Amino acid sequence: MAVQINPSILSADFARLAEEAKAVDGADWLHVDVMDNHFVPNLTLGLPVVESLVRATDTPLDCHLMIEDVDRWAPQYVEAGAGSVTFHAEAAAAPVRLAREIRAKGARASMALKPATPIEPYEDLLPELDMLLIMTVEPGFGGQAFLDIMLPKICRTRELISKHGLELWLQVDGGVSASTIERCAEAGADVFVAGSAVYGAADPSAAVRALRNQAERATAQASWACDD
Ligand code: DX5
Ligand code: ZN
Repeated sequence: MAVQINPSILSADFARLAEEAKAVDGADWLHVDVMDNHFVPNLTLGLPVVESLVRATDTPLDCHLMIEDVDRWAPQYVEAGAGSVTFHAEAAAAPVRLAREIRAKGARASMALKPATPIEPYEDLLPELDMLLIMTVEPGFGGQAFLDIMLPKICRTRELISKHGLELWLQVDGGVSASTIERCAEAGADVFVAGSAVYGAADPSAAVRALRNQAERATAQASWACDD
Protein backbone atom coordinates (compact mmCIF):
# COMPACT_ATOMS: atom_id res chain seq x y z
CA MET A 1 0.00 0.00 0.00
CA ALA A 2 1.68 3.20 -1.19
CA VAL A 3 0.69 6.65 -0.03
CA GLN A 4 -0.48 8.96 -2.83
CA ILE A 5 -1.11 12.69 -2.60
CA ASN A 6 -3.59 14.22 -5.05
CA PRO A 7 -3.85 18.03 -4.92
CA SER A 8 -7.32 19.34 -5.77
CA ILE A 9 -7.26 22.13 -8.33
CA LEU A 10 -10.55 23.39 -6.91
CA SER A 11 -8.36 25.55 -4.66
CA ALA A 12 -6.07 26.64 -7.53
CA ASP A 13 -6.34 29.77 -9.68
CA PHE A 14 -8.67 28.69 -12.53
CA ALA A 15 -7.22 31.38 -14.81
CA ARG A 16 -3.76 29.76 -14.56
CA LEU A 17 -4.57 26.04 -14.42
CA ALA A 18 -1.57 24.89 -16.49
CA GLU A 19 0.88 26.71 -14.19
CA GLU A 20 -1.00 25.54 -11.11
CA ALA A 21 -0.73 21.93 -12.32
CA LYS A 22 3.04 22.36 -12.65
CA ALA A 23 3.27 23.95 -9.19
CA VAL A 24 2.67 20.51 -7.63
CA ASP A 25 5.24 18.48 -9.55
CA GLY A 26 5.61 15.92 -6.73
CA ALA A 27 1.91 15.01 -6.87
CA ASP A 28 0.80 11.50 -7.83
CA TRP A 29 -2.42 12.65 -9.51
CA LEU A 30 -4.15 15.95 -10.08
CA HIS A 31 -7.64 15.85 -8.54
CA VAL A 32 -10.22 17.57 -10.77
CA ASP A 33 -13.60 18.35 -9.19
CA VAL A 34 -16.40 18.42 -11.75
CA MET A 35 -19.63 19.94 -10.32
CA ASP A 36 -22.88 20.55 -12.18
CA ASN A 37 -24.89 22.69 -9.73
CA HIS A 38 -27.46 19.85 -9.49
CA PHE A 39 -25.77 16.98 -7.67
CA VAL A 40 -23.98 19.59 -5.55
CA PRO A 41 -24.79 23.30 -5.11
CA ASN A 42 -21.73 24.52 -7.01
CA LEU A 43 -20.55 24.74 -10.62
CA THR A 44 -16.94 24.24 -11.70
CA LEU A 45 -15.67 22.85 -15.00
CA GLY A 46 -16.36 20.15 -17.57
CA LEU A 47 -15.00 18.17 -20.51
CA PRO A 48 -13.30 21.00 -22.48
CA VAL A 49 -11.21 22.04 -19.47
CA VAL A 50 -10.27 18.41 -18.75
CA GLU A 51 -9.21 17.93 -22.40
CA SER A 52 -6.98 21.01 -22.16
CA LEU A 53 -5.51 20.03 -18.79
CA VAL A 54 -4.54 16.60 -20.11
CA ARG A 55 -2.41 18.36 -22.73
CA ALA A 56 -0.97 20.83 -20.21
CA THR A 57 0.46 18.41 -17.64
CA ASP A 58 2.22 15.04 -17.38
CA THR A 59 0.51 14.35 -14.05
CA PRO A 60 -2.43 11.98 -14.59
CA LEU A 61 -5.91 13.35 -13.87
CA ASP A 62 -8.14 11.96 -11.14
CA CYS A 63 -11.59 13.27 -12.13
CA HIS A 64 -14.14 13.41 -9.31
CA LEU A 65 -17.56 13.76 -10.91
CA MET A 66 -20.13 15.40 -8.64
CA ILE A 67 -22.79 15.40 -11.33
CA GLU A 68 -26.17 13.91 -12.13
CA ASP A 69 -26.70 11.64 -15.13
CA VAL A 70 -23.20 10.32 -14.49
CA ASP A 71 -23.82 7.03 -16.35
CA ARG A 72 -23.96 9.11 -19.51
CA TRP A 73 -21.07 11.52 -18.78
CA ALA A 74 -18.38 9.47 -17.01
CA PRO A 75 -17.21 7.50 -20.09
CA GLN A 76 -16.64 10.79 -21.90
CA TYR A 77 -14.13 11.81 -19.21
CA VAL A 78 -12.15 8.65 -20.00
CA GLU A 79 -12.22 9.61 -23.69
CA ALA A 80 -11.07 13.13 -22.70
CA GLY A 81 -7.93 11.54 -21.19
CA ALA A 82 -8.62 11.15 -17.46
CA GLY A 83 -6.61 8.30 -15.92
CA SER A 84 -9.11 7.76 -13.12
CA VAL A 85 -12.81 8.57 -13.12
CA THR A 86 -14.89 8.70 -9.92
CA PHE A 87 -18.68 8.64 -10.00
CA HIS A 88 -20.91 9.03 -6.94
CA ALA A 89 -22.87 5.97 -5.77
CA GLU A 90 -25.81 8.31 -5.10
CA ALA A 91 -25.82 9.53 -8.72
CA ALA A 92 -25.20 6.33 -10.67
CA ALA A 93 -28.19 4.40 -12.01
CA ALA A 94 -26.11 1.28 -12.79
CA PRO A 95 -22.79 1.44 -10.91
CA VAL A 96 -21.53 -2.00 -11.98
CA ARG A 97 -22.22 -1.37 -15.65
CA LEU A 98 -20.63 2.08 -15.36
CA ALA A 99 -17.48 0.83 -13.59
CA ARG A 100 -17.05 -1.85 -16.26
CA GLU A 101 -17.46 0.72 -19.01
CA ILE A 102 -14.86 3.05 -17.45
CA ARG A 103 -12.39 0.16 -17.16
CA ALA A 104 -13.12 -1.09 -20.68
CA LYS A 105 -12.33 2.37 -22.04
CA GLY A 106 -8.96 2.27 -20.28
CA ALA A 107 -9.24 4.28 -17.06
CA ARG A 108 -9.32 3.33 -13.39
CA ALA A 109 -12.89 3.09 -12.13
CA SER A 110 -13.73 4.69 -8.81
CA MET A 111 -16.89 5.19 -6.76
CA ALA A 112 -17.49 7.91 -4.15
CA LEU A 113 -19.72 7.90 -1.07
CA LYS A 114 -21.16 11.04 0.51
CA PRO A 115 -20.86 11.21 4.31
CA ALA A 116 -24.36 9.77 4.95
CA THR A 117 -23.95 6.87 2.49
CA PRO A 118 -22.81 3.63 4.16
CA ILE A 119 -20.22 1.31 2.62
CA GLU A 120 -21.90 -1.96 3.62
CA PRO A 121 -24.51 -2.13 0.79
CA TYR A 122 -21.65 -1.87 -1.73
CA GLU A 123 -19.46 -4.69 -0.36
CA ASP A 124 -20.19 -7.01 -3.30
CA LEU A 125 -19.35 -4.25 -5.82
CA LEU A 126 -15.84 -3.60 -4.53
CA PRO A 127 -14.10 -6.04 -6.95
CA GLU A 128 -15.52 -3.94 -9.82
CA LEU A 129 -13.62 -0.87 -8.62
CA ASP A 130 -10.02 0.36 -8.62
CA MET A 131 -10.65 2.99 -5.96
CA LEU A 132 -13.28 3.86 -3.36
CA LEU A 133 -13.59 7.53 -2.31
CA ILE A 134 -14.91 8.30 1.14
CA MET A 135 -15.96 11.94 1.36
CA THR A 136 -14.84 13.52 4.62
CA VAL A 137 -16.95 16.66 4.01
CA GLU A 138 -20.28 17.17 2.25
CA PRO A 139 -19.21 17.51 -1.40
CA GLY A 140 -19.49 20.86 -3.10
CA PHE A 141 -16.85 23.21 -1.73
CA GLY A 142 -13.19 23.33 -0.76
CA GLY A 143 -11.99 24.60 2.59
CA GLN A 144 -14.57 22.84 4.79
CA ALA A 145 -13.80 21.28 8.17
CA PHE A 146 -12.88 17.56 8.20
CA LEU A 147 -15.64 15.28 9.53
CA ASP A 148 -14.04 13.06 12.20
CA ILE A 149 -17.20 10.96 12.26
CA MET A 150 -16.09 9.46 8.92
CA LEU A 151 -13.05 7.73 10.49
CA PRO A 152 -14.96 4.56 11.47
CA LYS A 153 -16.28 4.25 7.90
CA ILE A 154 -12.72 4.50 6.54
CA CYS A 155 -11.63 1.79 8.95
CA ARG A 156 -14.55 -0.52 8.14
CA THR A 157 -13.86 -0.05 4.43
CA ARG A 158 -10.19 -0.96 4.90
CA GLU A 159 -11.33 -4.12 6.73
CA LEU A 160 -13.62 -5.05 3.80
CA ILE A 161 -10.78 -4.48 1.31
CA SER A 162 -8.50 -6.77 3.36
CA LYS A 163 -11.23 -9.36 3.88
CA HIS A 164 -11.70 -9.72 0.11
CA GLY A 165 -7.97 -9.46 -0.65
CA LEU A 166 -8.52 -6.56 -3.06
CA GLU A 167 -6.01 -4.13 -4.58
CA LEU A 168 -8.50 -1.31 -4.12
CA TRP A 169 -7.17 2.17 -3.34
CA LEU A 170 -8.99 3.99 -0.52
CA GLN A 171 -9.20 7.74 -1.10
CA VAL A 172 -10.27 10.47 1.31
CA ASP A 173 -11.38 13.92 0.16
CA GLY A 174 -12.37 16.97 2.19
CA GLY A 175 -10.59 18.80 4.97
CA VAL A 176 -7.42 16.72 4.57
CA SER A 177 -4.53 18.75 6.01
CA ALA A 178 -1.48 18.55 8.25
CA SER A 179 -3.80 18.26 11.24
CA THR A 180 -6.05 15.48 9.86
CA ILE A 181 -4.03 13.38 7.38
CA GLU A 182 -2.44 11.16 10.03
CA ARG A 183 -5.84 10.12 11.40
CA CYS A 184 -6.96 9.26 7.86
CA ALA A 185 -3.84 7.15 7.28
CA GLU A 186 -4.21 5.42 10.65
CA ALA A 187 -7.81 4.56 9.74
CA GLY A 188 -6.63 2.94 6.49
CA ALA A 189 -6.77 5.53 3.70
CA ASP A 190 -3.92 5.48 1.16
CA VAL A 191 -4.88 8.18 -1.38
CA PHE A 192 -5.23 11.69 0.01
CA VAL A 193 -6.92 14.60 -1.77
CA ALA A 194 -5.92 18.02 -0.47
CA GLY A 195 -7.11 21.31 -1.92
CA SER A 196 -6.68 24.25 0.42
CA ALA A 197 -3.87 22.53 2.35
CA VAL A 198 -1.79 22.42 -0.86
CA TYR A 199 -2.84 25.45 -2.92
CA GLY A 200 -3.30 27.63 0.15
CA ALA A 201 0.35 27.02 1.08
CA ALA A 202 3.15 29.41 0.08
CA ASP A 203 4.97 26.48 -1.57
CA PRO A 204 2.45 23.89 -2.89
CA SER A 205 5.14 21.32 -3.76
CA ALA A 206 6.60 21.55 -0.26
CA ALA A 207 3.09 21.07 1.14
CA VAL A 208 2.70 17.89 -0.94
CA ARG A 209 6.03 16.55 0.37
CA ALA A 210 5.13 17.37 3.98
CA LEU A 211 1.70 15.70 3.71
CA ARG A 212 3.31 12.63 2.13
CA ASN A 213 5.85 12.36 4.98
CA GLN A 214 3.13 12.60 7.60
CA ALA A 215 0.93 10.02 5.84
CA GLU A 216 3.83 7.60 5.33
CA ARG A 217 4.84 7.81 8.98
CA ALA A 218 1.26 7.26 10.16
CA THR A 219 0.76 4.36 7.71
CA ALA A 220 3.90 2.62 8.99
CA GLN A 221 2.44 2.72 12.51
CA ALA A 222 -1.16 1.87 11.60
CA SER A 223 -2.85 -1.28 12.84
CA TRP A 224 -6.27 -0.83 11.15
CA ALA A 225 -8.12 -2.34 14.02
CA CYS A 226 -11.50 -0.59 14.08
CA ASP A 227 -12.71 0.54 17.50
CA ASP A 228 -16.38 -0.19 16.83
C1 DX5 B 1 -15.17 19.01 -2.31
C2 DX5 B 1 -14.16 18.48 -3.30
C3 DX5 B 1 -12.78 18.43 -2.79
C4 DX5 B 1 -12.20 19.78 -2.40
C5 DX5 B 1 -11.36 19.52 -1.20
O1 DX5 B 1 -16.45 18.67 -2.70
O2 DX5 B 1 -14.51 17.16 -3.70
O3 DX5 B 1 -11.91 17.77 -3.70
O4 DX5 B 1 -11.42 20.39 -3.38
O5 DX5 B 1 -10.88 20.73 -0.72
P1 DX5 B 1 -10.21 20.83 0.71
O6 DX5 B 1 -8.99 19.96 0.70
O7 DX5 B 1 -9.88 22.30 0.83
O8 DX5 B 1 -11.23 20.38 1.71
ZN1 ZN C 1 -13.01 16.04 -4.88
